[in-house]
Amino acid sequence: MLDLKHKSILITGGTGSLGKALTKEILSKHPEVRRVIIFSRDEQKQFQMAQDYPERDYPQLRFFIGDVRDEQRLVRAFKGVDYVIHAAAMKHVPIAEYNPDECIKTNVMGAQNVIHACFQTNVQRVVALSTDKACAPINLYGATKLTSDKLFVAANNIKGDSPIVFSVVRYGNVMGSNGSVIPFFLKKRGEGKLPITDPNMTRFNISLQGGVDMVMHALANSWGGEIFVPKIPSYKITDVAKAIAPNCEQVTVGIRPGEKVHEEMITPSDSFYTYDLGKYYTILPATHKWSIDDFKLRFNASLVPNGFAYNSGNNSEWESVDTLRTLIREHVDNTFEI
Ligand SMILES: NC(=O)c1ccc[n+]([C@@H]2O[C@H](COP(=O)([O-])OP(=O)(O)OC[C@H]3O[C@@H](n4cnc5c(N)ncnc54)[C@H](OP(=O)(O)O)[C@@H]3O)[C@@H](O)[C@H]2O)c1
Repeated sequence: MLDLKHKSILITGGTGSLGKALTKEILSKHPEVRRVIIFSRDEQKQFQMAQDYPERDYPQLRFFIGDVRDEQRLVRAFKGVDYVIHAAAMKHVPIAEYNPDECIKTNVMGAQNVIHACFQTNVQRVVALSTDKACAPINLYGATKLTSDKLFVAANNIKGDSPIVFSVVRYGNVMGSNGSVIPFFLKKRGEGKLPITDPNMTRFNISLQGGVDMVMHALANSWGGEIFVPKIPSYKITDVAKAIAPNCEQVTVGIRPGEKVHEEMITPSDSFYTYDLGKYYTILPATHKWSIDDFKLRFNASLVPNGFAYNSGNNSEWESVDTLRTLIREHVDNTFEI
């Protein structure tokens, strides 16, 4: 486990769903952390989050208003910071399609600014959040996150003598997060019909805690340039509909622009660089400053077979209607009943 004693950690997008879960994890499991800094734009979200953490009980927690589009503000915020988790993003596919310039400014230029600010300060380790939509992207959100991933991976090549390490964590839909299918179906089920984009559609499923665990794993174990991918179950959208509203009619409405039938995490082209770490896969960078043999030995890592692909359709692990019901109760709505 990563020792955060006397360390300062900054979370861009710290008021978002992942940022809040990370803050909770760090403050509860690492009470000797020196400082946890929340970096985001909206004062109201920061004000609300601060209510949950009274200063007298959590003197380590600090709030910093700033925009990742503003490099100088990041430099100011990163002074004295040891670790950065970069979670700030625009993440809604249709909004990114409609406002491409804004999405590029936040997701691509924001990533560049975070990297540049790290080089101007003494940050030691950086973990950037990615998404399955960055793998073989077909929408702008995914394309900007792929670009961001590339920037963070390549940052390891231009760091000179600095000990800083950059890595990426890529995962799929967080169960019940805003805009995801489960809250949507829960809201719609009273209408007697549920819209299904495509009856074959599948998605990966990860809990917020699963995402937090991965970020903490990457922060503790990265050697630089890895894209960490979790081994997580998939579900069929039709099973989510059955789990939430077994008596509702399922109406096929057609796939939406920028959507895939199956989400991908690792393509056959990535397989040449992808290693199985047991709990996770990792896509290693094509160039790196450390030895692959040492890496394999340290993490008991084995290269996946040529042509290996990992997507939500070819997964070997699936949520059933019953497990989905239990998960919805545990992670989305504890009053959920059919
Ligand atoms: N949720 C998912 O299902 C999922 C799945 C895979 C990957 N991810 C990735 O995980 C990361 C975190 O996602 P999330 O679900 O926690 O997102 P979220 O709940 O939408 O939170 C986004 C956070 O980023 C901040 N932010 C947005 N634009 C910013 C800017 N220009 N400068 C500074 N802060 C900014 C927001 O606060 P302000 O608006 O106040 O600035 C908020 O704190 C993202 O990178 C996302 O792509 C999410």
